[in-house]
Amino acid sequence: MDNLIEAIKQLKKEKNAVIMGHYYQRGEIQEIADYVGDSLALAQQAARTDADIIVMCGVHFMGETAKVLCPDKKVLVPDMAAGCSLADSCPADEFARFVEEHPGYTVISYVNTTAAVKALTDVVVTSTNARQIVESFPKDEKIIFGPDRNLGGYINSVTGRDMLIWDGACHVHEQFSVEKMVEIKRAHPDAVVLAHPECKSTILKLADVVGSTAALLKYAVAHPEKSYIVATESGILHEMKKQCLQTTFIPAPPADSTCACNECSFMRLNTLEKLYDCLKNESPEIKVDAEIAAKAVKPIKRMLEISAKLGL
Ligand code: 13P
Ligand code: SF4
Repeated sequence: MDNLIEAIKQLKKEKNAVIMGHYYQRGEIQEIADYVGDSLALAQQAARTDADIIVMCGVHFMGETAKVLCPDKKVLVPDMAAGCSLADSCPADEFARFVEEHPGYTVISYVNTTAAVKALTDVVVTSTNARQIVESFPKDEKIIFGPDRNLGGYINSVTGRDMLIWDGACHVHEQFSVEKMVEIKRAHPDAVVLAHPECKSTILKLADVVGSTAALLKYAVAHPEKSYIVATESGILHEMKKQCLQTTFIPAPPADSTCACNECSFMRLNTLEKLYDCLKNESPEIKVDAEIAAKAVKPIKRMLEISAKLGL
């Protein structure tokens, strides 16, 4: 393992590569990454890096976003099969029809989408900035929000909007059950419940804090004296525990106790071995059709500009 880590570091240096990792990655990948962050931070880092190669340790749409922002750089992913059930729940041709059926609507898409869906979008959001970006539009703006029905419903509820929502979801966040949550809350009555807005509204109602992975982490770091039940992909516990050494973090239990369903099987496809191979072989490489990229870059840059103005 130590040899592998050294070999990755050596290759990275030789090739002027940067390794980016999402909070849902395996701990050892988070440890070797130059930047670890949520979806927004990874897009921001990609936009500003001067590396020649970006290795995106996350899922496919994160690599696509980096490639669209940096068309002249090589963007690698350790495993091309690392997809996303939420992005898959919104095929571009069906979304295009939905948009066409609703003329006059502004299209806001979650970053968990393919570049082809982003190409149909006016502004991209992540869970860190979705609320503020929606609120930056007039109250009576007609908005289509896709693809996450839970995040969209949550934003509607906190902003009083009535966005038209695409019926998509993430299989990891959807599986948390109220029954199991009530049980674990009863066992840990003083624990603060942190939940990601991709969870169902019934779970969000049981939460004390709802936010993106970065927001949940920030809350825990600001209040290390508390204990936490964490309703999101359990990879985030790595950074939480690292930053709050004395704090107790309890992953929200999967609905089915025989599976590790609170882990994203796509995120976990990336391993140190695959990271080494992809740097060595400069493959698999993310490619995005030039016409799609030219359209998709606009709503992504718009998101980055609004986020910068909002100080996010
Ligand atoms: P954030 O990184 O924006 O919290 O989103 C979580 C997610 O589902 C990434 O796939
Ligand atoms: Fe997609 Fe859900 Fe996995 Fe995030 S956790 S990458 S939304 S499947």
